[in-house]
Amino acid sequence: MKVIKARVKDVPKMKSLIEYHAKKNKMLARSLSYLYENLRDYFVAFDGDEIVGCVSLHISWEDLAEVKSLAVAPERLGKGVGRELLKAAIEEATDLGIQQLFTLTLEPEYFIKHGFTVIHRDNLPMKVWGECIHCPKYPECDETALTYDIGQTKLNLS
Ligand SMILES: CC(C)(COP(=O)(O)OP(=O)(O)OC[C@H]1O[C@@H](n2cnc3c(N)ncnc32)[C@H](O)[C@@H]1OP(=O)(O)O)[C@@H](O)C(=O)NCCC(=O)NCCS
Repeated sequence: MKVIKARVKDVPKMKSLIEYHAKKNKMLARSLSYLYENLRDYFVAFDGDEIVGCVSLHISWEDLAEVKSLAVAPERLGKGVGRELLKAAIEEATDLGIQQLFTLTLEPEYFIKHGFTVIHRDNLPMKVWGECIHCPKYPECDETALTYDIGQTKLNLS
């Protein structure tokens, strides 16, 4: 398996992966327009010629970035694809000089397992809420906020 930056031709498969989990209420759906506009945030995992997962790293501020849209193909769950994608996002954030990551998720246990810490949503800067008004669930958010300190937390991704 290899994890690389996403390309435009990967978008339809990324959309269908995200849609699969969104329909199960595990994550937010993303439109084609959103995916093309934010394509440079995305990594995809390939097994041979097949896309088996994706993740996005979206920079919010000088020291903060969000991990979004982590999705693994249903037939590849539990085989380390999510771990490799998360690792790629953390490595890119480290290279960019980002100090802290955050995520909003319905699967907090997965992120806790990988070194993230649950925080109260109110502790996130106002700036990160800009997208929320476009969320179909707004204002009834049921996601858990977690952070990951790149400078301080040891990577738990072996
Ligand atoms: C959450 C998700 C990304 C995990 O990906 P995955 O490739 O199946 O997970 P991995 O194989 O990398 O798992 C790594 C470890 O986490 C554990 N794990 C997997 N899913 C987990 C979950 N939902 N909660 C807690 N731990 C989990 C695995 O058992 C494994 O543990 P181990 O190292 O002790 O064996 C995947 O289940 C998924 O796509 N879910 C739907 C979308 C979603 O919820 N995305 C996250 C929020 S946007």
